[in-house]
Amino acid sequence: MELGAAFTVFLGLCLSCLIILIAWRQINKGGKLPPGPTPIPFLGNLLQVRTDATFQSFLKLSEKYGPVFTVYMGPRPIVVLCGHEVVKEALVDQAEEFSGRGNLASIDRNFQGYGVVMANGDRWKVLRRFSLTILRDFGMGKRSIEERIQEEASYLLEEFRKTKGAPIEPTFFLSRTVSNVISSVVFGSRFDYEDKQFLNLLQMINSAFIEMSTPWAQLYDMYSGIMQYLPGRHNRIYYVIEELKDFIASRVKINEASLDPQNPRDFIDCFIIKMHQDKDNPHSEFNLKNLVLTTLNLFFAGTETVSSTLRYGFLLLLKHPEVEAKVHEEIDQVIGKNRQPRFEDRAQMPYTEAVIHEIQRLTDIVPMGVPHNVTRDTHFRGYLLPKGTDVFPLLGSVLKDPKYFQYPDAFYPQHFLDGQGRFKKNEAFVPFSSGKRICLGEAMARMELFLYFTSILQNFSLRSLVPPADIDVTPMVSGFGNIPPTYQLCLVAR
Ligand code: HEM
Repeated sequence: MELGAAFTVFLGLCLSCLIILIAWRQINKGGKLPPGPTPIPFLGNLLQVRTDATFQSFLKLSEKYGPVFTVYMGPRPIVVLCGHEVVKEALVDQAEEFSGRGNLASIDRNFQGYGVVMANGDRWKVLRRFSLTILRDFGMGKRSIEERIQEEASYLLEEFRKTKGAPIEPTFFLSRTVSNVISSVVFGSRFDYEDKQFLNLLQMINSAFIEMSTPWAQLYDMYSGIMQYLPGRHNRIYYVIEELKDFIASRVKINEASLDPQNPRDFIDCFIIKMHQDKDNPHSEFNLKNLVLTTLNLFFAGTETVSSTLRYGFLLLLKHPEVEAKVHEEIDQVIGKNRQPRFEDRAQMPYTEAVIHEIQRLTDIVPMGVPHNVTRDTHFRGYLLPKGTDVFPLLGSVLKDPKYFQYPDAFYPQHFLDGQGRFKKNEAFVPFSSGKRICLGEAMARMELFLYFTSILQNFSLRSLVPPADIDVTPMVSGFGNIPPTYQLCLVAR
């Protein structure tokens, strides 16, 4: 009997050791991850990371563990990269290894690895190359991207004129106009501003971006295995994205029915033509799923990012009227009042360029970046990250790296000007990220930001409803994205 009890205890001990060993190996997958706070079972480091202030919690942890550390978001280990040097070493110097897309369960529930943003491996390479080519070709086609933006900007100015200087909330003014630029590329036409379906789509995109930034989405990313079966707010993003998918699928059907292979009208047509050309290849990535989801990626990313940046930018200008006055002055000198701004004007407008860069730096639209992962076992700064390790390049920590920006938290356009007032590049300016996954719409976004800011400020002065000193620029929500606070302003004709 005694021998039996001892044997049971021995067996129990062996079993426990085995379970711990398996768990440990699973966590480390044979690698040597950077140090970090000790995780506890199931919760990981949730006691050290506030899901409503993840970015700030990561910054705090980096004070203790340095610029590269491991943190367990629930049971899932992620490697966090902080500051310009370390992010550059990973995304640029070891670009191939760090080019994988990390796990984002809250979104991948809809995408399941399809569409350029969430794809990996050959699928991603094919979709990225194709999307870039189409964006470029549509820029060089009959009507350049620049002309499309100028046309949209003039519609926006008309809308602003109709307000006659009365207070407005700018969100949908800006998202309608910006979204029409990418819409004309992916759908071949713009939407009327009064179109109810369009406004509904924009509302969905806006609310999906907000939902992606709530603690619910982060909890889902950690515990998707359980949460996918539970009711609750975390399901909102899923349903909103499904509705957006349905809309794109309906547009694809319309295109298919009226396709003329000799005259592609838009991104969707070009993709369908490629699907036909590849129809005998069972491994082709030109299939319906990738068509719908890549189109959705472009439509979503092309709308929310630029319009949120413009919205944040106007708020910053309301708070700093002296900066706005200098931009007006430069516009009057270089462009005057009688013609539309052109993208090439920026070469003569260093102050405006600096202001737009500073706006993007402080808007910091995706502070934690979009997660990456390593495509193979990767040696990095003396550690070994096993293939498939998720990596968060904290873009916000680069944009506020005190080694590269004198006043990281202040709105200070001089960060991008030299002593003679000439525009000065800064290598830590990475709102579009860097390396192989760098934003696919960067060229379009830069052109939009310049042309919208200059067109609006050429014609209007911004007026705040409260004294500038009382304007609070703290984001309304800060998670995956930084969502600007809601505010009203008046646009007074100049
Ligand atoms: C101010 C505007 C914008 C900002 C700040 C921005 C920022 C970003 C960032 C940080 C990423 C993640 C890069 C990474 O994984 O490291 C990204 C990816 C992406 N962006 Fe943008 N973006 C902007 C505008 C646009 C526009 C206008 C489009 C569409 C035309 C677009 C399409 C995409 C796509 C498709 C990806 C995924 C690229 C990939 O995974 O290979 N973005 N963007």
